[in-house]
Amino acid sequence: EAASAPVTVRALVARGSGAELRVERVRLPAPGPGEVRVTITAAGVCHSDLSMVNGTLAARFPLVLGHEATGVVAETGPGVQVAVGTPVVLNWAPACRACWWCRRGEPWLCAATTAPTVARGETDDGVPLHLTLGLGALAEAVVVPERAVIPIPAGLPPEQAALLGCAVLTGVGAVRNTARVTPGESVAVVGLGGVGLAVLSAARRAGATTILAVDVAEAKRDLALAAGATDFLLSDDRLSKEVRARTESRGVDHAFECVGRAATIRAAWRLTRRGGAVTVVGMGAKDDMVSLGALDIFHSARTLRSSVYGSSDPDREVPMLAAELADGALDLGVLVSGTIPLDEAPTAFDRLARGEGARWVVTL
Ligand code: APR
Ligand code: ZN
Repeated sequence: EAASAPVTVRALVARGSGAELRVERVRLPAPGPGEVRVTITAAGVCHSDLSMVNGTLAARFPLVLGHEATGVVAETGPGVQVAVGTPVVLNWAPACRACWWCRRGEPWLCAATTAPTVARGETDDGVPLHLTLGLGALAEAVVVPERAVIPIPAGLPPEQAALLGCAVLTGVGAVRNTARVTPGESVAVVGLGGVGLAVLSAARRAGATTILAVDVAEAKRDLALAAGATDFLLSDDRLSKEVRARTESRGVDHAFECVGRAATIRAAWRLTRRGGAVTVVGMGAKDDMVSLGALDIFHSARTLRSSVYGSSDPDREVPMLAAELADGALDLGVLVSGTIPLDEAPTAFDRLARGEGARWVVTL
């Protein structure tokens, strides 16, 4: 067997906060014990990547972007079970299965996965490289721990399978695991990007009967209705009134915040009925503070909680979603606004920043 060596691949790199994104050649180490190299076939562009670039989330640079991807195992290090040639989805919160949270069945809070960026590999000019959420998936290949790959059936459309790794697992999990939406309930979704639209369609599949889609961009109306919303509402001064008019004056049972801002957490709070629940799915900035009235908190009896990675066990739930994708029960066509070659990946970030479309997916 040939000794494994580092590989040089092309990757989308940010050299600093606010710096222009460029496709660069980067050097990835050979897979060590328990590690695999995955050839990426498709990677989505998520708002969290943009938040790393624009300073909303803390990041170290130079940074390879991307954390929502699918690909094929190309090389395995010593002691690895998964076989070369296996199609996989990448997991940005691989569970250690040993920490306090993993042992109590909350692997999405695994103590081993707290850093937003992880040092790995180097740039072509020898500068140590950092990887978004330990993956850096907007690249021709990644080298990751075996526990960060989840086998999926062969033959799935890569641009849809990629979304299972972040937006869809997060959105579906927020509805099923965190909020536990039940048939007949009413739902509002604030923010209709890839994550919000995934929440919306999951709410539809969970049997919610009133599904109010909320965004600042009127252009999201058609996407929202296609994804399963019963109404589209603009996020403006009249929003609370419009929501009450559709919920017998009460407000919704569940509001999902899918923007990642204090202002939209407050908006979601106000849209929810007494005794209802707000689920924060968006990942906001650490100094963006939410203010709620103490009496309001008591009197409204609402629940406010967050959903990290859909409160899911990706190793169990990604294969379930992949099976649903394979048999047609899950259709992610609406979520994919278009596919883009790696060289044009920076344009996907521009579109995301402008709030255009649902998900832009880089295909390789
Ligand atoms: N009210 C309603 N919608 C808003 C508002 C607002 N004040 N501000 C922005 N939006 C909408 C945008 O118009 C866009 O449609 O929120 C949506 C955000 O979508 P994307 O940028 O595509 O973000 P997405 O990738 O879906 O991620 C959403 O989840 O994972 C986290 O870090 C991620 O916080 C981000 C959130
Ligand atoms: Zn993401």
